[in-house]
Amino acid sequence: METKVKEKGSDWLPRVTVRHIQAQDLYALEWEGEFTHFRRVYWEAYQRSRLGSAVLWVAELKPVGIIGQVFIQLVCDRPELANGSSHAYLYSFRVRPEYRNAGLGSYIMDVVEQDLFQRGFHYVTLNVAKDNPQAQRLYERRGYKVVAHEPGYWSYIDEKGRWQSVEEPAWRMEKRLER
Ligand SMILES: CC(C)(COP(=O)(O)OP(=O)(O)OC[C@H]1O[C@@H](n2cnc3c(N)ncnc32)[C@H](O)[C@@H]1OP(=O)(O)O)[C@@H](O)C(=O)NCCC(=O)NCCS
Repeated sequence: METKVKEKGSDWLPRVTVRHIQAQDLYALEWEGEFTHFRRVYWEAYQRSRLGSAVLWVAELKPVGIIGQVFIQLVCDRPELANGSSHAYLYSFRVRPEYRNAGLGSYIMDVVEQDLFQRGFHYVTLNVAKDNPQAQRLYERRGYKVVAHEPGYWSYIDEKGRWQSVEEPAWRMEKRLER
């Protein structure tokens, strides 16, 4: 599935394509080393997308490459976040710093929300770190509401096979999707 930006927000924005990820895009998500520790996390999310329990989106600007991403989990072990029918969970949402504040993040969310609505989902859930008020403001503008506190403990295996633990207190936000 491919979607083209229509609205003109800057010189480059109309040339961005928001599309499903492909295996050859995974390396670009590491951002020249900044996110190499998530190599396995990305690979596992990609495998889930191949099995149909997740949808991974990237924003591509040719010839620059991948300049944004967002992952959607359709079902997981926490049904209040994603239950495979009404609730889907959005995470790993990032735009490269030099392309922020031009409307790309909003456009990516438009694509994702529309896609989820068409799949029959009624709610998008996400966690936003309590120390990230900019992202929270963007979500609030789009109609997301804080519904719970999340302690934000999670762990993952990094690219060298080491367990890493993260503590990131967050607000869980939710938006009801309407046509
Ligand atoms: C959160 C993030 C993905 C948003 O992406 P973005 O491309 O900057 O998003 P947008 O440009 O659509 O919106 C950002 C702001 O720019 C404004 N904006 C939108 N179009 C604009 C334009 N054409 N000109 C100027 N400003 C614009 C929006 O109104 C919004 O303002 P707000 O913060 O007051 O709500 C990005 O900031 C990011 O990658 N942050 C780091 C990672 C992160 O925090 N991710 C979220 C985790 S929950």
